[in-house]
Amino acid sequence: QTIYLKDYAPTPYRIVSVDLDFRILEDGTRVRAQLTIEPRAETAPGTPLVLDGDELKLDSIAIDGAPLVLSAYVADANSLTIVEPPNRRFVLDTQVTLQPEANTRLMGLYRSSGTWCTQCEPEGFRRITYYLDRPDILAPFKVRMTAPVAVAPVLLANGNPIDRGDAGDGLHYAVWEDPFPKPAYLFALVAGDLGAITDSFTTMSGRKVDLAIYCTHGKEGECHYAMDSLKRSMAWDERRFGREYDLDIFNIVAVSDFNFGAMENKGLNIFNDRLVFAKPETATDANYHGIERVIAHEYFHNWTGNRITCRDWFQLCLKEGLTVYRDQEFTSDERSRPVQRIHDVQNLRTSQFPEDGGPLAHPPRPDHYREINNFYTTTVYEKGAEIVRMLATLLGEVDFRKGMDLYFERHDGEATTIEAFIKVFEDATGTDLGQFITWYLQAGTPQVEVSDSFDAASQTYTLTLSQKVDPTPGQPDKQSLLIPVRFGLIGPNGNAMSWSGVSGGTVRDDLILLDKDSVTLTFTGVANKPVPSLFRGFSAPVKLRSSLTQDDLLFLARHDSDPFNRWDALQTVSTNLIAEAAQGRRWTAAQADALRQALIDTLDNPELDPAFKAQAIAIPAETALGRHIGKDVDPDAIARARHDFVTTLVGPMADQLEARYDALTVPEPYSPDAAQAGRRSLRNGLLTLLTAGSDRGAALAASQYEAASNMTDRYAAMAISAHYWTDEAQALLGDFRTRFAGDPLVFDKWLTASAQAPDDGVIERMRAILAAPDFPRTNPNRLRSLLGSFVMSNPTQFARADGAGFRFVTEAVAEIDKVNPQVASRVLTGFRILPTLEAGRRDAGRAALDALKAQHTLSRNVGEILDRILAG
Ligand code: ARG
Ligand code: ZN
Repeated sequence: QTIYLKDYAPTPYRIVSVDLDFRILEDGTRVRAQLTIEPRAETAPGTPLVLDGDELKLDSIAIDGAPLVLSAYVADANSLTIVEPPNRRFVLDTQVTLQPEANTRLMGLYRSSGTWCTQCEPEGFRRITYYLDRPDILAPFKVRMTAPVAVAPVLLANGNPIDRGDAGDGLHYAVWEDPFPKPAYLFALVAGDLGAITDSFTTMSGRKVDLAIYCTHGKEGECHYAMDSLKRSMAWDERRFGREYDLDIFNIVAVSDFNFGAMENKGLNIFNDRLVFAKPETATDANYHGIERVIAHEYFHNWTGNRITCRDWFQLCLKEGLTVYRDQEFTSDERSRPVQRIHDVQNLRTSQFPEDGGPLAHPPRPDHYREINNFYTTTVYEKGAEIVRMLATLLGEVDFRKGMDLYFERHDGEATTIEAFIKVFEDATGTDLGQFITWYLQAGTPQVEVSDSFDAASQTYTLTLSQKVDPTPGQPDKQSLLIPVRFGLIGPNGNAMSWSGVSGGTVRDDLILLDKDSVTLTFTGVANKPVPSLFRGFSAPVKLRSSLTQDDLLFLARHDSDPFNRWDALQTVSTNLIAEAAQGRRWTAAQADALRQALIDTLDNPELDPAFKAQAIAIPAETALGRHIGKDVDPDAIARARHDFVTTLVGPMADQLEARYDALTVPEPYSPDAAQAGRRSLRNGLLTLLTAGSDRGAALAASQYEAASNMTDRYAAMAISAHYWTDEAQALLGDFRTRFAGDPLVFDKWLTASAQAPDDGVIERMRAILAAPDFPRTNPNRLRSLLGSFVMSNPTQFARADGAGFRFVTEAVAEIDKVNPQVASRVLTGFRILPTLEAGRRDAGRAALDALKAQHTLSRNVGEILDRILAG
């Protein structure tokens, strides 16, 4: 049941056009599909036609109007075979009946709070009708839908509305037509009783596009930020990539039950409502930021994903990596570029690096899978985006744009591959990218080691960079990659240093091409010993092991012209000090003093903006420290070392921090803009330090919680406190829960904060939360807020030495798997940390996984993740 890339072959038949008729009623939905199909030129007459299905039951079947006899086809839940199809174009007419109400997997057609909606990527369409459900089958769709007017006054599908009217018996109908041939995974339909806000956008060629965001009645007022983000995205894609929207209508629908963030269905994006709704009292700055990003992401898919799609699911990164790169660029242009870069890299290091260095490691373009849903990963998305970013770095802005233009021109309307994507850049710019493509094919985070020396007499500076990638599952031997290293040399006075010549490798302006296992560069005409600033802007997704001392790093933190490296230098210093302390080598007073001074200087630097300062003063999380240590990890030792360290660091400067905290109040009315959000994040960063490292934080948090006029400040105060689980903290959580009772998205915040409490009672409390009769156990947002937060950010309790954390999670996964395998397998990925833990915890974790494997019939989703972790 493993599927291999090497087995890719086109289907013997293609689908010319699709005509669907949905009759949506309370007791079931009848789907009639009329598929115009023809054999390909090379198909031998009589070749069977095999269509995909998933939990379908066939009611009737005909070809060109004539019902088929029983011997002419074989139908089961998972496929429909036409034994001997006509050797010409024909119309296959099938009918199935669905039970959307019972569809808790949330793939195919399902019902969310009364609204009928769909999710088809990657293989959900086969749960709606028998079809060639693969992305290289592109066809124009026409959809007719009939539903009770009282329950579903709004009827939406892809493309343009061409007809609507009364259908008698309290029913009405609508007909939608999408002129753009598309793969079935981009199909969507929505029927429900929804409110909406509307607006319009005039494209660069002067066409007016009608925009609408649909939502539960009463939530319209919370959709405006999403609408504003959409219009800015449309304008940005025209400006930056010359891409214009292509239909006359663009609809977004917010639903409450959704397996992930959002979906880019042609002309009808469907969103998890947590990525649409925002008002200051209930949404944080981070929520606004997320909405802007995901609205942009799904919109950008119209060109990178929909107009040009993937040949097969192994190519997922073709659309996802590229579209994440585009949404990152959008946010960088709309907000602060350095702050966004730090944010994205932090996310990469927090989620992608551990994936890439553990049992679930896979290449951005995998070559086999059991369950494709398990490959919507941070490696495909975020590492995929880093690869595109490296391409832009290597080629330069102008040549990168030339390649993108050629991509749109050459492949519009196609389902294509990573190879074709790389080829456009080769053809547009005459660059050989043969080595570069390895980034897509090879798993693992490269480790780059650096050493240098300076010879004063000859004014020569020598820099050696070497790369290596550890083995990953199925890939024992690694090739060397083409790694772009953006760099600068910094002289003793803090200014950039120049050189007169360089030999030993390729250096273009501020870019070193590390294209072999090891490269040694000799710079001549270097007046003084420089400090190298390497991987500026994080120019490649690697782990850098440099020989820089703490003094060098603090020097970079002060003087580097690259803000990313200034930030990274501070993070490296504290990471090193805490990680060493966790392993028994405590920092010296001088080391702590020097870092403290660097933090104060950063806070006082008038040239740095508050959002950057907030990132600079953050102390690495326990999970990040665990990953840095990498093996034989004892999470309790890390938590203790981190706590000691923050106390040491903060103690002597608590007055200064508190004064700055007081000075940073935001007096203006709330606005989610980057400048205001930056000040709030700095203030909350200071509160985090004061709470973690002094005894005055708790009181500040409590009064901030009370005084807060927006969710950002209120949530920060509560979440920071929850980490200490004192009586005051429990009081804040209790108040939060009742204050916002009835708002499910705020309940998620409470669940997240609750799951992160590190005290020994947390598991029992979570069991009680899950067991409460009114806990919505089929809603992915609720489950993820509780369990996802626990496995990913409560390391001392999840990885408890007695195994109770692991058992709690595997037991929950077994239950969830019966309802929604995608949510279950996602939670289970938290076990990928096992190989990094000390032996006792590792064994306890494996025992929990073994018990899960032994006791239950598992979905393919969970089964695959479980086996990969156990094998790793
Ligand atoms: N294409 C969607 C997006 O990136 C996500 C679909 C996720 N699908 C999944 N099975 N996990 O916006
Ligand atoms: Zn996407």
